[in-house]
Amino acid sequence: MKHLLKLLDVSEKEILEILNLADQLKYERKHGIPHRHLEGKSLGMIFQKASTRTRLSFETGMYQLGGQALFLSNRDLQIGRGEPVQDTARVMSRYLDGIMIRTFAQQEVEDLAKYGTIPVINGLTDFCHPCQILADLMTVREKKGSFAGLKACFIGDGNNMANSLIVGCLKVGMKFSIACPDGYRPDSRVLDFAKDYGDKFTLTDNVLEAAADADVVITDVWASMGQEDEKAKREAAFKGYQVNDGVMKAARGDAMVLHCLPAHREEEITAKVFEEHADEIFEEAENRLHAQKAVMVKLMKD
Ligand code: CP
Ligand code: NVA
Repeated sequence: MKHLLKLLDVSEKEILEILNLADQLKYERKHGIPHRHLEGKSLGMIFQKASTRTRLSFETGMYQLGGQALFLSNRDLQIGRGEPVQDTARVMSRYLDGIMIRTFAQQEVEDLAKYGTIPVINGLTDFCHPCQILADLMTVREKKGSFAGLKACFIGDGNNMANSLIVGCLKVGMKFSIACPDGYRPDSRVLDFAKDYGDKFTLTDNVLEAAADADVVITDVWASMGQEDEKAKREAAFKGYQVNDGVMKAARGDAMVLHCLPAHREEEITAKVFEEHADEIFEEAENRLHAQKAVMVKLMKD
């Protein structure tokens, strides 16, 4: 594994290796055991969109691993003034040991990897959010013990989160059901991938059908970064696609709730359900740190 561009490229074995290492790094951090695997290394972090968790977890994670992280905003880089990705990739490869990028087009991430010579990590594109799903899977395994026999459901927009969750959950052996309105379905590449999983994957417009007997209930914002202009249209389209008491009643009694954050209370999730499951949701946020440290060690350690 040279890069983390999208989960479609990563095998189940590689996902489990990352999760096992993440568990170990979390244990070591909790017990004050140093793990400076990336001493002297530098990670460049390109942000073309806003971030709280991704920036903080990569930056502090790199520090804990003995290296440094450089925050590179689109506003400051020449890439924001039109310098081609091909050139940026070749320049950065001569200074750094890895690149994390959050941007719009998946192709830009793929191009960085193609033209550069150092590992590239996708910190979210319009297509996918692999780092988040590694943290989500880590959180599920922590709470439920294993993935065997579990069903996850996603309620809402067939967006970057949905695309990555479908691939990640199916690859580790979970069943997956998604409820989204017509016109807001997951990417066709992901639906093609899911075809191979037969009835382990279902796509419906019926929220309660998707949530039935789910062990893990997941949602995300109705309007993602870059879709601010569609807010009103999306609010109308997603009315009813909300994680609320009705959805939780359809799910298993011991179902956990995940949300990548930021959350919009009373839109995709009620404040009540959010607060009742806040421990899980903030553990998920914490696990971004441990999962990404594992990714960086796997990709960047000599
Ligand atoms: N979940 C997530 O990626 O959060 P940020 O947008 O704050 O990085
Ligand atoms: N779907 C959201 C995820 C944010 C972490 C977005 O892309 O804005």
